[in-house]
Amino acid sequence: MINIGVVGATGLVGRKMLEVLEERNFPIRNIRLFATAKSAGQKIKFNNELIEVEDAANSSFKGLDIALFSAGKEASKIIAQKAVADGCIVIDNGSYWRMDQNVPLVVPEVNPEDAFKHKGIIANPNCSTIQLAVVLKPLNDLYGLKRTIVSTYQSISGAGQKGLNQLFSELNGEVPADRISNHQLAFNTVFHNISDDSLYSEEEIKMINETRKILNYPDLKISVTCVRLPITGGHSESVNIEFEKEFNLDEIFDTLKNAKGVVLLDEPQKEIYPTPIFAQNKDDVFVGRIRRDASVENGINLWVVSDNLRKGAATNAVQIAELLIRK
Ligand SMILES: NC(=O)c1ccc[n+]([C@@H]2O[C@H](COP(=O)([O-])OP(=O)(O)OC[C@H]3O[C@@H](n4cnc5c(N)ncnc54)[C@H](OP(=O)(O)O)[C@@H]3O)[C@@H](O)[C@H]2O)c1
Repeated sequence: MINIGVVGATGLVGRKMLEVLEERNFPIRNIRLFATAKSAGQKIKFNNELIEVEDAANSSFKGLDIALFSAGKEASKIIAQKAVADGCIVIDNGSYWRMDQNVPLVVPEVNPEDAFKHKGIIANPNCSTIQLAVVLKPLNDLYGLKRTIVSTYQSISGAGQKGLNQLFSELNGEVPADRISNHQLAFNTVFHNISDDSLYSEEEIKMINETRKILNYPDLKISVTCVRLPITGGHSESVNIEFEKEFNLDEIFDTLKNAKGVVLLDEPQKEIYPTPIFAQNKDDVFVGRIRRDASVENGINLWVVSDNLRKGAATNAVQIAELLIRK
């Protein structure tokens, strides 16, 4: 039985983590919930019990075995290290540790062995990266990836509660109090922050670097464009792959059908293909629209959809914790 902490418990991912822990009957002896001082004292239901939220910055983590963090970069940087010093293993959803050489970046279906190399912190990848890696891994094993081009169609919940607040204010005809973009989100498409001279957005850079790290393929040729759509949950990705070797389309169908964490939904003539609404509240990565790309040698196109708050965040983090306790 595990003593577990959830840091960022009032947020979109934190609340989803509590749902996932309940559903999976995670073996919990004691659970503690943390957020900022603003939320301290608030009570959140877990397994029919009301648990009081604590101020993470002013709490000790002593006595906890595992802390699941989803509290943004700043909390990851400072509070996660404090939790490790207090004897806790941290599984962190923020971006701060992901590319640190001493921190494994883990998707349990792809590189479970890396989880055991941790020195106190294990990073959960970016939501768009997780669903991509789950699909790329078995295909890379089969034919070798020569080049991959990805375009994302991401939900607003990927930007946390503030994003949803902006979208719903706009839909209600109100001036948003919270903003994640200077552009209108409703009925629009926007890009993520572009903050450096590379002209790539932070999300695009994360997807490129993190995919290479998880697949242990540092010179993988991968090009990414990330876009946010005015939908509330579920990220979709159009993925174009050029393989090293000649491929057999039936073998790709069979491989993905049998791949861990993947569900194939691909009868397009019957309108059977993955959609974000279908993927919502499910833990799998859904794949469809698999077809040959005749414009290159050994090329395919596919469509990959998953719930960003579940497999893209909470479920993946809980699966990492399950890996640790199974060992
Ligand atoms: N949303 C996604 O699909 C997704 C997917 C993968 C990873 N992530 C990552 O997960 C993290 C949380 O995302 P979210 O969507 O849940 O955001 P959110 O809805 O804005 O929630 C943020 C949570 O973090 C807490 N928090 C913020 N700063 C903190 C601090 N300094 N100390 C302690 N707690 C703090 C907030 O507490 P208060 O309520 O008290 O402010 C809240 O509980 C982010 O790092 C994000 O990049 C999100």
